[in-house]
Amino acid sequence: MWKFLFVLCAVTGIHTEATGKAPWIRLNSGRNIPTFGLGTWLGMQGNATETDDSVENAVKWAIDAGYRLIDTASIYKTEEQVGRGIAAKIADGTLKDRSELFVVTKLWNDAHEPKMVVPALRESLGRLNLTYVDLYLIHWPIAQHSNGSFYNTDYVDTWKAMLEARDEGLARSVGVSNFNIQQLDRVISLSPEKPAVNQVEINLNLQQPELLEYLKRHNIAVMGYTPFGSLFHQKAADDAPPPRIDDPALIKIAEKYKKTVTQIALRYLVELGVIPIPKSVTKNRIEQNVDIFDFSLTQDERDQIKKYDHGYRTIAPAFWKDSPYYPFK
Ligand SMILES: NC(=O)c1ccc[n+]([C@@H]2O[C@H](COP(=O)([O-])OP(=O)(O)OC[C@H]3O[C@@H](n4cnc5c(N)ncnc54)[C@H](OP(=O)(O)O)[C@@H]3O)[C@@H](O)[C@H]2O)c1
Ligand SMILES: *[C@@H]1O[C@H](CO)[C@@H](O)[C@H](O)[C@H]1NC(C)=O
Ligand SMILES: *[C@@H]1O[C@H](CO)[C@@H](O)[C@H](O)[C@H]1NC(C)=O
Ligand SMILES: *[C@@H]1O[C@H](CO)[C@@H](O)[C@H](O)[C@H]1NC(C)=O
Repeated sequence: MWKFLFVLCAVTGIHTEATGKAPWIRLNSGRNIPTFGLGTWLGMQGNATETDDSVENAVKWAIDAGYRLIDTASIYKTEEQVGRGIAAKIADGTLKDRSELFVVTKLWNDAHEPKMVVPALRESLGRLNLTYVDLYLIHWPIAQHSNGSFYNTDYVDTWKAMLEARDEGLARSVGVSNFNIQQLDRVISLSPEKPAVNQVEINLNLQQPELLEYLKRHNIAVMGYTPFGSLFHQKAADDAPPPRIDDPALIKIAEKYKKTVTQIALRYLVELGVIPIPKSVTKNRIEQNVDIFDFSLTQDERDQIKKYDHGYRTIAPAFWKDSPYYPFK
């Protein structure tokens, strides 16, 4: 029986010690990653302060609800809160060991010079109160000083320093974020190892079939940020295409499975092979979002949802378009 289970897990690539609600998959680095996570960016108007504990609470609720992946970044200013949440859940025994959790953080644009990478990661680790992260990402291909001016450090050189940080044991795996296909091609052809992950915007309005196909071919896992896109009326720009949360076709699918429209949107992303990282600081939403591993959509339903892909970006930082490394059209 145990032998059978072991073989089954080996074949499916599911980690034998995996805990939490979502299955884990294997990265090209040989490490395993949960297929669902919590986002912790408080948004453009975000206002994390020393006394704020919204993200700390979110992390605790998420771990209680079965999340085993937390996504943060130095620029979010939430690393300390994430660290406090994790420490509390290890101290109270919800997590038996640090290794049950997969923690992601990111290198900001102002530290792309190769010699700045390891020190930047050490600073993040200090704020997170951890000795290593599971995944360290280059947040954007763009190199930019803190005063806003661009500089020309090639992201391929930054990438080689990421591999050194990994070799020093500060990150178990390394990857990139917001890289387009041409940029990934350069990284792959000009350096000894390819990224384990590319984290990009993926939601119903921006399904990125070409990029997903490319990443699959190169065995690079894809984390999907802003997974709700323009689903919520209050967040959607005037020009944002449908669907919204009250879309009749989505409501119909949701009712069939006794789920919410947000759960249908997340489930669709999981079935595309994407690791969604929805952000919420609201307990019942955190619990609802991860509760999508007990049903599957039909091919018909997937075909229907595919039609919402309009190549529409919710996160399009046009103010960076003068950088030589701006990744979007
Ligand atoms: N790599 C990158 O460049 C990059 C860029 C953007 C984001 N990210 C990562 O991806 C994460 C997610 O993206 P995001 O924060 O932009 O957007 P998102 O997760 O698509 O949306 C977050 C918003 O949805 C609300 N929400 C969450 N669950 C809900 C539910 N079940 N019902 C109704 N509303 C719900 C949240 O409200 P409440 O919090 O008030 O509950 C929040 O306002 C970020 O937090 C960050 O970790 C990475
Ligand atoms: C940010 O937080 C500070 C301190 O808590 C508060 O005074 C200020 O109003 C907040 N700003 C916004 C935009 O929420
Ligand atoms: C940092 O982590 C240690 C356990 O490794 C814990 O004892 C300590 O309380 C944590 N510090 C904070 C500020 O959470
Ligand atoms: C921005 O900062 C960089 C590095 O500190 C400096 O070299 C550059 O001259 C600054 N640019 C402006 C416009 O202040």
